Amino acid sequence: MSYQDTYQLSIKEPQLFWSQQAAQLPWYTYPKQVLTKNEQGFYRWFEGGKLNTAYMAVDWHIKQGRGAQLALIYDSPVTDTVRRYTYQDLGEEVARLAGLLRQLGVQKGDRVIIYMPMIPEAAFAMLACARLGAVHSVVFGGFAAHELALRIDDALPKLILTASCGIEGDKIIPYKPLVDKALLESSHQPQAVLLYQRPQYTEQLAAPYIDWAEALSGAPLADCVPVDAHDPLYILYTSGTTGKPKGIVRDNGGHAVAMYTSLQHTYGMQPGEVFWAASDLGWAVGHSYIVYAPLILGCTTILFEGKPVKTPNAGTFWRVIDQHKVQVFFTAPTAFRAIKKEDSQGLLHRTYDTSSLRYLFLAGERCDVDTYNWATQLLGVPVIDHWWQTESGHPMLANPIGLEPLPIRPGSAGKPACGFDVRVLREDGQPAAPNEEGLVVVKLPLPPGCLPTLWNDDTRFQEAYMSRFKGFYFTGDGGYRDKDGYVFITGRVDDLINVAGHRLSTAEMEEMVAAHPAVAECAVIGIADPLKGQRPVGLVVLKDGVSISATQLEAELVAKVREDLGAVAFFKNAAVVKRLPKTRSGKILRRVMRKIADGEPFTMPSTIDDPVILEEIKETLASRGIGIAFEAE
Ligand code: COA
Ligand code: AMP
Repeated sequence: MSYQDTYQLSIKEPQLFWSQQAAQLPWYTYPKQVLTKNEQGFYRWFEGGKLNTAYMAVDWHIKQGRGAQLALIYDSPVTDTVRRYTYQDLGEEVARLAGLLRQLGVQKGDRVIIYMPMIPEAAFAMLACARLGAVHSVVFGGFAAHELALRIDDALPKLILTASCGIEGDKIIPYKPLVDKALLESSHQPQAVLLYQRPQYTEQLAAPYIDWAEALSGAPLADCVPVDAHDPLYILYTSGTTGKPKGIVRDNGGHAVAMYTSLQHTYGMQPGEVFWAASDLGWAVGHSYIVYAPLILGCTTILFEGKPVKTPNAGTFWRVIDQHKVQVFFTAPTAFRAIKKEDSQGLLHRTYDTSSLRYLFLAGERCDVDTYNWATQLLGVPVIDHWWQTESGHPMLANPIGLEPLPIRPGSAGKPACGFDVRVLREDGQPAAPNEEGLVVVKLPLPPGCLPTLWNDDTRFQEAYMSRFKGFYFTGDGGYRDKDGYVFITGRVDDLINVAGHRLSTAEMEEMVAAHPAVAECAVIGIADPLKGQRPVGLVVLKDGVSISATQLEAELVAKVREDLGAVAFFKNAAVVKRLPKTRSGKILRRVMRKIADGEPFTMPSTIDDPVILEEIKETLASRGIGIAFEAE
């Protein structure tokens, strides 16, 4: 069937389409209904279905006689290690760890926070939770203590799983001090913290810490616990437009079906093939395309611990593709920009054989045309920009190469994936004309695998996503659709920013900056950055009478954001300004300031209270060389 026919079926007859997909998976009890609404009026998929996601991802393949096939390859240039796990090996690791978690009191529905580096044990931990019907919440290892504390207090985990250290290039990052600090800040305290000692750095442990390896050695194997399709598999916190992150919930049933389908339709994968998503388990990409989708489909997945340029050089990606014969590779454009900066001629690529590769997929931020062209020429395979969010869990726009490869239109993230009725609306809710920029929405119901709600916060779910346009999910992105149906995403229309593929909230950084005793008020804006895509910049108004130098204040604020949020925030500048531009009703005009820094044209907002302030901001940014518009050559 063509893409068009398959897509139309998924939109016009979603129940038929998704029941055909669901029927291919091994449920304990097949769902009684495909699509229903709950008492709040939220859509739910696969009512009455009973399954276990870890069974589908591991045991099922062993039962089908594929236990000897490679399931997971851990490739860690930072520790100079490659470890291979067959499905049989993975089954044993996961069942044993699940047995330990059960001994430690974890039961169906309990939350477990996983705050770990990119090591196989982190993936085992996710699957072990799934095996018990417990709800994991992976916290990106690059987040600092305060971020961890926020998540502990929202998820109320019974256990925290961590490791002695992460390794970033040649730096060892001990995790225990970060967990200790988070536990001092959080009101909730878990029953225990299970810590995996890495040989590169070990810790002395006392309660509530438990040594992972010691405890595991005596643990029994645990069986899979059947769960309802609607039961949560995980919570993944992502930045929202307030200081409090949103707990995106993923259910078991819809998620398994979406993972199984999307890896075939969008990425063109077949069981037994090698898929590599070079991301982190702490992001949605890591959940969906390092762990769940490749394993549920019976592929080999690569868990890569390292960076594209530093470990040991900008040829690392090509080495991994060559060594493990990767067929489809997925990463963020920023990683390619980083490689291009180090090796613009792609000389290191020539020393490897990447002929196993069929496609490169890029997502996480808009793929600029330069990066698209460079990657296409270097690799000699189609480069596919595709668009999704933590909320959707799988691509909403793509080139559906597993159904029918479509001509690539550089700059566009492709056409809607099956189940996603993507529309572009004007502010007043009317459909935008072809090529007219508007707000990108998806007509309800969202397909399986998308967030059913936010953890313990149906109200925020309703307000953040469902209330702006009745009957539509609001994505928070702007964009337009051309006359042939290709959609172009132009960027967030809210205060979220994307720094090196990491989604961050400027509102959260503003809270951190505003907490400084010298700061009267502040705005944090995301400005363009040639390498990272965007980076945050603080604009700060001092309290009357304070006597701190601008340099000292900037250093303190930079340190504070690094300490609270983490180095990934890449918050390097805080400029002191006399006033912030506002509307007459007091709303800070962040978008206009961003346009000034980016050197983009803008129309003076008719509601601005005092246009002179914009000139002052421009002068301040120019004098500091902050922003593409003012950067020194
Ligand atoms: N643990 C601890 N610290 C971390 C970390 C982690 N897991 N990840 C990043 N950091 C630190 C880095 O060490 C760096 O610290 P420094 O300021 O002391 O040097 C800082 O955070 C900034 O990191 P980053 O922005 O990631 O820069 P980088 O040069 O280390 O790496 C990229 C650049 C492009 C390779 C990397 O950002 C990347 O892979 N991005 C893609 C993210 C992604 O996959 N997103 C999902 C969409 S596909
Ligand atoms: P995250 O939830 O971290 O995956 O971030 C989702 C956001 O990243 C989206 O809302 C977009 O703003 C941005 N994004 C992801 N993929 C793309 C893409 N291909 N093109 C443009 N923006 C993207």
